[in-house]
Amino acid sequence: MELELEFLRRRRSIRRYAERQISDEQLHDLEEMATQAASAMNEQSWFFVVIQKPDVLAELAGLTGMDDPFYSAPTLIVAFAAEDAIAGTIDTAFAMSNMMNAAVADGLGTCFIYSMRDVFNNPNYPELKRACGVPEGYECIGSLAVGYPAEEREAPTDRRWDVFSHII
Ligand SMILES: Cc1cc2nc3c(=O)[nH]c(=O)nc-3n(C[C@H](O)[C@H](O)[C@H](O)COP(=O)(O)O)c2cc1C
Repeated sequence: MELELEFLRRRRSIRRYAERQISDEQLHDLEEMATQAASAMNEQSWFFVVIQKPDVLAELAGLTGMDDPFYSAPTLIVAFAAEDAIAGTIDTAFAMSNMMNAAVADGLGTCFIYSMRDVFNNPNYPELKRACGVPEGYECIGSLAVGYPAEEREAPTDRRWDVFSHII
């Protein structure tokens, strides 16, 4: 059990990445683990856009107005939730969490990038979702930067333990 839990402990947000692209097999692992997530009434109400083309990543980064919002990660997975789903945001967040943990098991790092919400849900860019193949009726909930870590992260010392009430 300890061995099985260890990779969950090792997940950290990575903010420096190697230039090397992830493999198709690693991407497939992440996608497969996303499909394994729990979802309300098994609606699987998520949709993901995987972006690796450097010019598209640069264009999206430019739309955030931030300098290097994806920390130069070679892959960005933008996550969308069906607006009419029972619990689309929760379903999609669970799928993203599965991908984050699968990435650790595959020797990769991830970081949740919030700013993609403001880009993909921005009414000033009405064609963006369609251009990326997103079906109608989906809203962006965020994205994941993915790549080989170029930094070591220590185990955190700031985890809250006052967030449990035991009635046992
Ligand atoms: C909903 C959400 C949004 C986040 N947005 C960002 C972000 O935009 N940029 C970033 O660098 N990290 C972002 N993070 C990562 C958090 O800062 C990180 O998870 C937290 O500091 C704990 O660190 P750890 O992931 O290494 O345990 C986000 C995390 C979550 C869950």
